[in-house]
Amino acid sequence: MNAADRDRWDRKYRQKEPPKTITPDPFLTLALQGLAPVRALDVACGFGDNAIAMAWAGFEVTATDISPVGLARAKTRAEAAGVAIRFIETDAEDFDYGQEDYELITVFYFLNRTIVPRLTQGLRRGGHVLYKTYTVGELRYRPSLNREYLLAPGELQKMFKGCHVLLHDEVDTGREAFAKLLAQRRRQKHG
Ligand SMILES: C[S@@+](CC[C@H](N)C(=O)[O-])C[C@H]1O[C@@H](n2cnc3c(N)ncnc32)[C@H](O)[C@@H]1O
Repeated sequence: MNAADRDRWDRKYRQKEPPKTITPDPFLTLALQGLAPVRALDVACGFGDNAIAMAWAGFEVTATDISPVGLARAKTRAEAAGVAIRFIETDAEDFDYGQEDYELITVFYFLNRTIVPRLTQGLRRGGHVLYKTYTVGELRYRPSLNREYLLAPGELQKMFKGCHVLLHDEVDTGREAFAKLLAQRRRQKHG
C-alpha cells in the first residue's frame, strides 16, 4: 500500500465536492453502446462516475481505489443513483485481478504500468479493456505534473500489445492531452 498516495488523494477528495450529476467519460459512454453488460472492473474509480454509468448500463461492477475518502463519496453517490457497486479500498498494485474474472476492465486517468499483465489476466478471453489517461503532452498545460504518471507517445498501445487493439488514439484538444485505447483480449491462447 502506497500510504503517501492514499493520503494525497484523501486530502484532494476532502477539499473537492463531487459533481452534482453523474458524468461518465464520453469514451466510456460510446464504448458501452457496443458492449454486452456483464462483469466490469473500474480501477482507480475516484468519485465513481464511470462505475455508476456501467452499473446503469446493466454491468455488475466492482470499483477499486486507494482513497477511502473518495470511495465513501463514490458509495454515497452510487446509493443515490440507485445502483449496487462492489467498492474495494486497495492499492491498484495489491489488488487481485483474478483469472478471466471480468468481461470489461476500465481505467481512467490513472497510470500504473506494472499492473498491466495482471489486469490483462483478469480479463475473460474476448473481453475488453478501456484505458484513457494523460500523455506527456499534458505537461504543456500542467508543467508541474510528474512525468512518471504520463504516457509517452505510442506507449498505451504497446502496453496492451498482447491484446487485439481495436482503437488507439492520442489527442491534444488544446486544453488537455490524453491517449485512449479499446483493446480485446485474444480468444485463443496463442492467437
Ligand atoms: C485522476 S483520479 C481519476 C479518478 C477516476 N478514474 C476518474 O476518471 O474520474 C486518480 C485516481 O487514482 C486513485 N489512485 C491513486 N493512486 C492509486 C493507487 N496506487 N491505487 C489505486 N488507486 C489510486 C486516486 O485515489 C484517484 O481516485
